[in-house]
Amino acid sequence: MKILVTGGTGFIGSHTSIELVNDGHNVVIVDNLCNSNIDTLDRIRKITGIKVKFYDVDLTNYKDLESVFIENKFDAVIHLAGVKAVNESVQRPLKYFMNNLNGTVNLLTIMEKYSVKRLVFSSSATVYGKMNDLPLKEDSTLDVTNPYGRTKLMIEEMLEDIFNSSPNWGIASLRYFNPIGAHSSGLNGEIPRGIPNNIMPYITQVAVGKLDMLSVYGNDYPTHDGSGIRDYIHVEDLAKGHILALEKVLKNNLYEVYNLGTGKGYSVFELISMFEKTTGIEIPYKIVDRRDGDVAACYADSTKAFKDLGWKAEKNLRDMCIDAWKWQNNIG
Ligand code: UFG
Repeated sequence: MKILVTGGTGFIGSHTSIELVNDGHNVVIVDNLCNSNIDTLDRIRKITGIKVKFYDVDLTNYKDLESVFIENKFDAVIHLAGVKAVNESVQRPLKYFMNNLNGTVNLLTIMEKYSVKRLVFSSSATVYGKMNDLPLKEDSTLDVTNPYGRTKLMIEEMLEDIFNSSPNWGIASLRYFNPIGAHSSGLNGEIPRGIPNNIMPYITQVAVGKLDMLSVYGNDYPTHDGSGIRDYIHVEDLAKGHILALEKVLKNNLYEVYNLGTGKGYSVFELISMFEKTTGIEIPYKIVDRRDGDVAACYADSTKAFKDLGWKAEKNLRDMCIDAWKWQNNIG
């Protein structure tokens, strides 16, 4: 099948593209490289042996995006392109509305025009409200607290409206929990711009000596050790979830939402100690105030993805630490 991957040079998009190519699909990537690197294409080629077709196109440019659809007859789209920094979204909401919402409206309009009605969308666990019981299920209460999260929720709602208006679409929204790790070959992974916001790239940069010390955002949460608990998921497991969701939407007219998480939460202290144990490197840290907007704990019930898609996370926290460290060593 010929599959368009928007945001295909990003962390999750590149791993998904690798899985797609390994599965025999013909992958075309569209990305504006605003938060990724062109070298990722070489990494995909090194791992898969295939040079994927690439367009440096911004989804907000309707004409450029349409020309990609004129040149290629796609069977389906995996849509991951978008901006994703929670803090920045609070400072610059319009950037988030323009990129994520306008970009998606353009994409969907063009998909409809060219009768490409199979879509897997990259959503986020950030769409869940803070007051829910854990683990989070797809029908838990939705509520967002920042413009980034709002764009994810609004896109989910748009997709449902589109399906309701014209049920010959097949669409799956995947709510990611906390993707970390890297390709197990050590040849592909995340390249954060500037100082990382997320914990795993921060830890690996401390381990390699680029950063001095990790700040632990709060040790007074109502959790077993006081630090925040998250459902960390290996990016390769996440990528495989996209393939299974793609197979589902290729065969069925539907709109469905799926949690992609392991179902198990780990605290910040547990993550640090797993990293130290697997790498033998001590991670110096200091306790600082809680970060605005963080919840005490967040983990998934992914039973629906298992039942409907046959998907289950296979890699554990140890694998995630080993692969993230392998990648950090590779890039230095
Ligand atoms: N943390 C630290 N120090 C750091 C960074 C993070 O202690 O330097 C803690 C956080 O407080 C939290 C945990 O580590 O308890 C994980 O934080 P991340 O920033 O790695 O991830 P988040 O859970 O905040 O956010 C992630 C994605 C968002 C997405 C959200 C969905 O980055 O895009 O999951 O729940 F919206």
